[in-house]
Amino acid sequence: MKASVGLNIVVAEDYDEMSKIAAELVAGAVAEKPDAVLGLATGGTPMGLYKELVGLHRAGAADFSRITTFNLDEYYPIQKTNEQSYSFFMNENLFNHINVDFGRVHIPDGEAKDPEAECAAYEARIAAGGSIDLQVLGLGVNGHIGFNEPADCFSAATSLVNLTQSTIDANKRFFESEAQVPRQALTMGVKTIMMARRILMLASGGAKADIVRRFIRGPVTPQVPASALQLHRRVTVVLDRAAAAGL
Ligand code: PGA
Repeated sequence: MKASVGLNIVVAEDYDEMSKIAAELVAGAVAEKPDAVLGLATGGTPMGLYKELVGLHRAGAADFSRITTFNLDEYYPIQKTNEQSYSFFMNENLFNHINVDFGRVHIPDGEAKDPEAECAAYEARIAAGGSIDLQVLGLGVNGHIGFNEPADCFSAATSLVNLTQSTIDANKRFFESEAQVPRQALTMGVKTIMMARRILMLASGGAKADIVRRFIRGPVTPQVPASALQLHRRVTVVLDRAAAAGL
């Protein structure tokens, strides 16, 4: 898929087709640049994408041996062995099933004793790897990207943030109870995300239709962190029909 400058919108029929289109795009980027640096996301949205990538790898159609990865975020504090950690999620949904070199996999460390130092080190590791070639994003119902919640100004670098009640409510389905959802997270900043050469945003389902419309058609505002993507030069948004309903 050749994307022109700015924000390109692709509307798929359903979640499965959205995932297939996204996988073609990611696998295409890796085929073009085998040592690509990928920014990766967690949550319900990219699970289909990862399943497709695993399928492509098993079919011998994708080689991930030279890629480097940086995940967007991680809860804080959380143990890597906790099934709700994003570290666990990535291993289960992608890394354990492809030929990635675990020495080049990066996820903010939810076990870090000094979270501020971990954030600074994470940002430095991204910079040292050159920029991210392709950043995959999901969209929070409140417009967040990574864990950059609606705020009075756009966040810059990777930092320790407080989750809003809306995010805690949206994510409690993955935990036994709302009380178990960590209240903080380590997340790339909006600026970190905007420095990626290319961005692939995915959203599916009618519950996202309103925020999809607002982030694409509304004003650029830190109250809708994803709206910053309107200022990026190379964004592909892949939606299913239900998520695109408000456009
Ligand atoms: P979801 O989360 O993919 O589980 O809907 C998206 C997000 O919060 O970024």
